[in-house]
Amino acid sequence: MNIKKAVTDYPIQHALADRWSPYGFEDRPVAEADLCSLFEAARWAASSYNEQPWNYILATKENPKEFDQLLACLVEANQAWAKAAPVLVLGVVSLRFAKNQKDNRAAVHDLGLASGNLVMEATTRGLSVHQMIGILPDKAREVYQIPNTSRRGRPRPSAITLTQPPCPPP
Ligand SMILES: Cc1cc2nc3c(=O)[nH]c(=O)nc-3n(C[C@H](O)[C@H](O)[C@H](O)COP(=O)(O)O)c2cc1C
Repeated sequence: MNIKKAVTDYPIQHALADRWSPYGFEDRPVAEADLCSLFEAARWAASSYNEQPWNYILATKENPKEFDQLLACLVEANQAWAKAAPVLVLGVVSLRFAKNQKDNRAAVHDLGLASGNLVMEATTRGLSVHQMIGILPDKAREVYQIPNTSRRGRPRPSAITLTQPPCPPP
């Protein structure tokens, strides 16, 4: 059950009104079956030319080495609260079409749409997601060897999403 609900002017789906971005987390893991469903929801997002230009890198607290590695890719201000979450996810987007290496102008939009699916699936399962742009993109690229697909000659910044059980704000 979620503890915050948007007061909407017009009726909307519960999963939209119930979504919010917490800074506090329950100290328990997210079930693997739930995690699988979140990424399945992301997988079925629409995308330009059906390119599905997103990838997600997952780290759970059950594997502290992987978790710390991903945590270190966040800016300090985000690390301060995100370290308490049971799951960290790094969203990565490819800015060029795989088949011809041409620019995919919809790529970042499509990552956002996939993440939106993930967030809605999480909310319906009583989980919350706190998305973050405050990451260290160069570090993430180095740690995960993310190839450069940017037309500006630099790898594209990646967004991070974070899933966790609902919890009151601090
Ligand atoms: C793409 C994106 C990037 C965000 N980056 C951060 C971030 O780096 N740090 C943070 O604390 N919150 C971040 N947020 C959370 C927003 O601040 C939050 O969604 C917004 O204040 C609305 O609050 P709500 O999600 O509870 O409705 C981000 C949200 C999105 C969608």
